[in-house]
Amino acid sequence: MTNPVAIQNYDGIAVLLVDNPPVNALAKSVRQGLRDGMREILDDPAYVAAVIACAGRTFVSGADIHEFDLPMEGVGIDEINTLFENRSKPVIAAIHGVALGGGLEIAMGCHFRIATKDAKLGQPEVKLGLIPGGGGTQRLPRAIGPARAVELIVSGEPILAVEGLKLGLIDEIFEGDPIAAGVAFARRVLSESRAFRSLRDDDSKLASTRADRNLLTEAVNNAVKRDSGMDAPRACVEAIGWSLNVPFDEAIRRERELFLALKDGEQSKALRHVFFAERNSSKVASITSHVRPRAVNTVAVIGAGTMGGGIAQSFANAGIPVRLVEVTEEALDKGLATIRKGYDSTVARGGLSAEEAARRAGLISGAVGLERVEDADLIVEAVFETMQIKEDVFSRLSSIAKPGAILATNTSYLDVNVIAAATYRAQDVVGLHFFSPANIMRLCEIVRGKETAPDVLATAIAVARRIAKVPVVVGVCHGFVGNRMLSVSIAQARKLLLEGALPQQIDAVANKFGMMGPFAMGDLAGLDIGWRSRKDSGERLPIEDALCEAGRFGQKSGAGFYRYNQGSRTPIPDPEVEALIVETSRGLNIGRRDIEDAEIHERLTYPMINEGARILEEGIVERASDIDLVWLYGYGWPRQTGGPMFWADQTGLAIVANRLAYMAAIDRDTTLRPAPRLARLAFGGGTFGSLK
Ligand code: 3HC
Ligand code: NAI
Repeated sequence: MTNPVAIQNYDGIAVLLVDNPPVNALAKSVRQGLRDGMREILDDPAYVAAVIACAGRTFVSGADIHEFDLPMEGVGIDEINTLFENRSKPVIAAIHGVALGGGLEIAMGCHFRIATKDAKLGQPEVKLGLIPGGGGTQRLPRAIGPARAVELIVSGEPILAVEGLKLGLIDEIFEGDPIAAGVAFARRVLSESRAFRSLRDDDSKLASTRADRNLLTEAVNNAVKRDSGMDAPRACVEAIGWSLNVPFDEAIRRERELFLALKDGEQSKALRHVFFAERNSSKVASITSHVRPRAVNTVAVIGAGTMGGGIAQSFANAGIPVRLVEVTEEALDKGLATIRKGYDSTVARGGLSAEEAARRAGLISGAVGLERVEDADLIVEAVFETMQIKEDVFSRLSSIAKPGAILATNTSYLDVNVIAAATYRAQDVVGLHFFSPANIMRLCEIVRGKETAPDVLATAIAVARRIAKVPVVVGVCHGFVGNRMLSVSIAQARKLLLEGALPQQIDAVANKFGMMGPFAMGDLAGLDIGWRSRKDSGERLPIEDALCEAGRFGQKSGAGFYRYNQGSRTPIPDPEVEALIVETSRGLNIGRRDIEDAEIHERLTYPMINEGARILEEGIVERASDIDLVWLYGYGWPRQTGGPMFWADQTGLAIVANRLAYMAAIDRDTTLRPAPRLARLAFGGGTFGSLK
C-alpha cells in the first residue's frame, strides 16, 4: 500500500501533504499516514512547525464513506488531533476546495487554519444520518460558539471561508498555492512568536451559553423545526450540548459512541445508499469516456402552462437564458404573469432578494410562434398531453430547430419513440420529464428513446445537473418509472376504499411512513384532470367519478376526497365522502371489513416494489438505486429509508415476495404475483442492491 501522506521539508517547516484522489477522503491509509507523519515531525528537532495541506482539487472532504460499511479499525481522528494539539510546534491547516466532516475536524485540531476565500467548510455528517464523530461537536462550538455550531451541524450546510474568518474559525484568507501559503504563515507565527492554543483548551466562546442555556434554545428550535423522522439532528444537538457541561475528553468519548451507534443504524445506511445512488445515476453504459456533451447556452420552452413556466424558471434560476414560446399572446402573457407572481411571492417570503428575482425573471423572454425557437441549443416541449399535438410540434421543430439542437419532450406518458419518429432527426430527441412544480421538484427522468444519441443523453444529464436537478435515465414505457409504479399503488388504494378503509385511514398510514397519502395527493393535483380524460376513454372509477360529478375536484374547489376550509390546505375528513364510499361498496356487492394499518401499508408498497422489479428486468433503468432516486426526489418517499428498492432489501425480499403471492391468491390478481426478478432474488437470498 503506498502512503498517501508525504512529508516535505521547507527549511524546517514540515508539510504533511495528503494525496488521495479524487477528494482526499480520510481513508484508513490517510489517517495512518497523518499519525505517523505527525509523530515523525514532533520527534525530529529539525522541524519547527507543521503545515497540513492537500494535493489535487480539495482539502480533506471527510471520512471515507465506503469504510462505514466495514468494521471501524485503524487510527482514529482523535489520535491524530491529539498529536496536532501538542504544545511544542505550531500546526497550520492550509485549506483549499472543501474541508468537510472529518476534514474540518482535523483542521480544527490544528492551532491555525488558513483558507482560500472560496473554500467551503462544513460538517455534513447529519446528511448521512450521523453526528460528527471526530470531535466536531466539541471543537466547533469552541471555535464559533454553540448557537452557530448548532446551525452548521444540524443543517449540514457548509459556509464559505470568508464567513469562517468572521466567525473565528479561519485565521486568514490566502490566494494561490496552499503549501506556499501555509509555509509563509508558519514562518510568520514563528517570527512573531505568536501564541498558539488548541481549540480544546479554549472555552471562551462557551462562557455565555454556560451561564444561560436559554441562549441555545432559539438556535435549537430553529434548527430542529419539524419532526423529519430522522434521528441524527437531535443526536447532533445532544452532543453539542455536552460541550457545555461535560469534560472535553469524556465528551469526545460519548461523541464517538453515539457516532458509532448511528453509523450502524438503518437510517445512516439508507442515507449513505442515497449518497452513492446520486453519484451513480449519471453513469450510463452507452456514455463512454469519449462521448462529449453538446454545448447548451440558450434554451427554448414550448408551452407556458403549469409545467412550461416552472421549467423555464429552473433554467433561469441557474443563469441560463430561456425563451418561452406560446401559440397566442394571451397564453404567453398569462404564463409570464404566473412566473412573475411566483418570483414576487418568493421575495415576499424572504427566499430571494428583489434584485436576484429581477435578474432571474429577466433571463426569461417570451415569444409567439414555434419558429422563434430557431436559435436555441435545447428545446423543451411542454404542450398539451395529446400525441397528435406533440407530433405536429416535433415535425415542425425538425426543420425549425438549428442542426445539433436537442429536442426534448416533457410528456408524462406518451411514447417518446413515436414522438421522435415525427422528426427526421430522432437521434436528437430525448424525454426530459420534470415533476410539478418543476421549479421546485428535483427529479428529472431522462427518457432515452431507441435512437437517442449518446451525446444527447450525456447533454441531458449534464444540463439537468447544471440546473440542480437529479437526473435518472429511464427507458420508454408507459408512465416511465415513477408514474408506472405509482399507478399500481393507487390501484390498491382504490381497492382498499371499496373493501372497508377510508381516505383518512389510508393517508394516515402513508403519513406515518413519512409520505403524503394518495388521497390528499389526489386532492392537491386535482381530481378533474383524470376524470376528463376518462370521459374520453370511457373508463370508469366509481368513487372519483362521483366526486367529480358532485363538483369535488380537490383543493381547488374546496372539496375532493376531503373538505377544505377556505384558504386552508388542511384535509378534513368528510362524512359525505364516507357515505359515498360505503354506498359504492354496497352497489358493487363488496362486503366492507376492518382493515389493519399493516395490511394497508403492505398493499400500498409491495406491488410498487414488484413493478420496480419488472422495470429492472426490462432494463428500463440501469440499477435499482435509480428507482430509489425517482421516488425520493419525485414523490417524497422518506429519505431515511433509502427509497423503495433499498427499503425492500432491508425489509427482506422473501417477506415481500411471500406477501405478494398471498395478495395475488386472495385477490385472484395475477399481476400481483411476484415478478420473476423479485422471485429469483427472494428465493436465492439476494437483494436489488447486489444486482449490477
Ligand atoms: N468518501 C468516499 N468517497 C467520496 C467521498 C467520501 N467522503 N466524497 C466524495 N467521494 C467520491 C464520490 O463517490 C465520487 O466517486 P465516483 O467518481 O466514483 O462516483 C467522487 O468522490 C467525486 O465526488 P462528487 O461527484 O461528489 O464530486 P464533486 O466535486 O461534485 O463534490 C465533494 C466533491 C464536495 C467532496 C462531495 O463529494 C461531497 O460532498 N462529499 C461528501 C462529503 C461528506 O459528506 N463528508 C463527511 C463524511 S462523514 C465524516 O467525515 C465523519 C467524520 O465526522 C468522522
Ligand atoms: P398546461 O395545459 O398547463 O399547459 C400547456 C400549454 O401549452 C398551454 O399554455 C398551451 O397554450 C400551450 N400549447 C399548446 N399547444 C402549443 C403549441 N403548439 N405551441 C406552443 N404552446 C402550445 O399543461 P401542463 O400541465 O403544463 O402539461 C404540459 C406537459 O407536461 C404535458 O405533456 C404533461 O403531460 C406534462 N407534465 C405535466 C405534469 C403536471 O403535473 N401538470 C407533470 C409532468 C409532466
